[in-house]
Amino acid sequence: MDLFEYQARDMFEKHGVPVLAGIVADTPEEARAAAEELGGVTVVKAQVKTGGRGKAGGVKVAKTPEDAEAAAEAILGLDIKGHVVKRVMVAAGADIKEEFYFSVLLDRANRSYLALCSYEGGMEIEQLAEERPEALARVEVDPGRGIDLDKAREIAVEAKFPTELIEKVAPVFVKLYEVYVEEDATLVEVNPLVLTGAGDIVALDGKVSLDENASFRQADHAALEDKDSTDPLEAKAKEHDLNYVKLDGEVGIIGNGAGLVMSTLDVVAYAGEAHGGVKPANFLDIGGGASAEVMAAGLDVILGDEQVKSVFVNVFGGITACDAVANGIVKALEILGDTATKPLVVRLDGNNVEEGRRILADANHPLVTIASSMDEGADKAAELAAK
Ligand SMILES: Nc1ncnc2c1ncn2[C@@H]1O[C@H](COP(=O)(O)OP(=O)(O)OP(=O)(O)O)[C@@H](O)[C@H]1O
Ligand SMILES: [Mg+2]
Repeated sequence: MDLFEYQARDMFEKHGVPVLAGIVADTPEEARAAAEELGGVTVVKAQVKTGGRGKAGGVKVAKTPEDAEAAAEAILGLDIKGHVVKRVMVAAGADIKEEFYFSVLLDRANRSYLALCSYEGGMEIEQLAEERPEALARVEVDPGRGIDLDKAREIAVEAKFPTELIEKVAPVFVKLYEVYVEEDATLVEVNPLVLTGAGDIVALDGKVSLDENASFRQADHAALEDKDSTDPLEAKAKEHDLNYVKLDGEVGIIGNGAGLVMSTLDVVAYAGEAHGGVKPANFLDIGGGASAEVMAAGLDVILGDEQVKSVFVNVFGGITACDAVANGIVKALEILGDTATKPLVVRLDGNNVEEGRRILADANHPLVTIASSMDEGADKAAELAAK
């Protein structure tokens, strides 16, 4: 889960990372009141979960509360890379002397953590990495040791900070790492981290991604969820404890076991090439016990996706045998009744497959086609979706 900048700001503050005051506002009037409360120069910033806000006109300096109101007026409703701004943060204005870059993230490829840091912040980091890779330090962080003061100094040296700044930024790196570990984040990024005219180091922008696998021990994180913009289908799947990820295609997929579902996505994408390029519409793993209720919930989610034109149910019977799955499908279609309107291709194999196929054949549901192999099922589902 990605956080909004204001949420990252609050989290930074909680962990002792130096930040400036910031107040969120949903209307221009609120922005004006916020600027009055903060006093002095403020910066009105779009709160959207995407980068490049400044360039898109989503960050504006305001000298007076009236300016802040006008800035909020201009920013609210703005579309930034497909994200419509519904909220701004009015932040105290900083007197920026220099801008730096710092991030720490999960480095999956190396099964480690990685700190990225540059003395030359301000510009987009992707651009810096491409144009001047030598200016961006990449320092592996041993998850067992983390970033203590020594490690933080090493990062600052690698990033070519001048000697007099090293002792200033290093403790901030330590605090940012504390956020990373204690909040179970997979990314903590500050761009820019700045040196102010008064000689202070301040995090002026923050991006934090939290690891949802840790939500069992991060009770506070549930409150950070942005319910407004969660995909309604994903929210519904979550309610039923289904492992669902929405994708862009037309063939709904249901399978049991993450590995089987992943390969089903591949096979459907491949089969789709022969049918006008149709693609999988989702990942949905109904897990081991494919009861009628779970199957109904899964189908309900997938059929609720307007883009879905056909559904491929690909189940390998194991502990839950194929007859139970077949009964699950038949009952699920009964439960869904008229709401089930799209063709279903079902491929069953494994434990008790004959009985499973017999149950489906006997039920003879007009929407259901039985496939005898995964390839055949994928091809049939892709063909039906292309119609
Ligand atoms: N509180 C502030 N006071 C003064 N200047 C600010 C403040 N916040 C941001 N700025 C200036 O605006 C620039 C852009 O701000 P920020 O980094 O928050 O947005 P962005 O980089 O456009 O967005 P993103 O990081 O999402 O791509 C900063 O580099 C900084 O120069
Ligand atoms: Mg930024």
